[in-house]
Amino acid sequence: MGDFSADWLSLREPVDARSRDRGLRRLLATWVPERGGLRVLDLGCGSGANLRALAPSLGIGQRWTAFDHDAALLERLPRRASGEGWSAEVATQLGELDGFDWPSADLVTASALLDLVSERWLERLIRRHAGAAFHFALSVDGRIDLAPRHAADGPVFETFVRDLQRPKGLGPALGPTAPAVAERVLREAGLQVAGAASDWILDPEDGALVEAWLRGVAAADLVREEVEETALKDWLDSHLGDLRDGRLRLRVGHRDLLALPL
Ligand SMILES: C[S@@+](CC[C@H](N)C(=O)[O-])C[C@H]1O[C@@H](n2cnc3c(N)ncnc32)[C@H](O)[C@@H]1O
Repeated sequence: MGDFSADWLSLREPVDARSRDRGLRRLLATWVPERGGLRVLDLGCGSGANLRALAPSLGIGQRWTAFDHDAALLERLPRRASGEGWSAEVATQLGELDGFDWPSADLVTASALLDLVSERWLERLIRRHAGAAFHFALSVDGRIDLAPRHAADGPVFETFVRDLQRPKGLGPALGPTAPAVAERVLREAGLQVAGAASDWILDPEDGALVEAWLRGVAAADLVREEVEETALKDWLDSHLGDLRDGRLRLRVGHRDLLALPL
């Protein structure tokens, strides 16, 4: 989805948090040096969801650089955070992801970002941080499963998934191919890669997020261009009606990846 507003990010954060794969997080924790002081780079950090999800597993003395091009989102990050057995100092950096002008890091991470970038961008990132570990959470993989179905689901979702691949300023966007491409590129760079599903499994209690997601699908440029207006309105009204009646179930495919240097 192209909406990176603070409202959208805070709607998705609790669902993201329960969807993230815990096994990969535990594996990452075992890799963290006992001496502490891990340098972490969070690309496209938004308002800091990735920090809140990962820092409690990464020990004491973490030094985070939280990078984004949205100054208002960066202002929402704490300067330091701590809990039992962990602490983090957080520096924010405002900039564009195509600049590659961020500091070195032991761990490079991003959540809900890889669909926006290109394969070439990813290769450059991995080369730039040779020797680091990479953790990419919540990359969309294009699977969408929704019930009850509507006759226009096929064309709407097919067009929406194609819309995810329109360029976002970082080359041809990976969109739903992001998890598979990232896994291959990380392996080719000689890292040891593990992946796991981190699907959103949504029910009526997640109504606000489901509604925002459905409206986002209907508002995507290609969907508006290619799906006939009355059919699209009927599609949206029908699913919102099912949501209000407590009948709608939605699963949106995501994948987490962890790559460790050998
Ligand atoms: C889907 S949000 C994910 C935010 C956060 N990682 C999370 O999981 O909540 C994508 C983030 O990438 C940032 N972003 C998108 N394109 C960017 C670019 N070209 N340069 C820097 N940041 C960018 C947006 O501002 C947004 O905060």
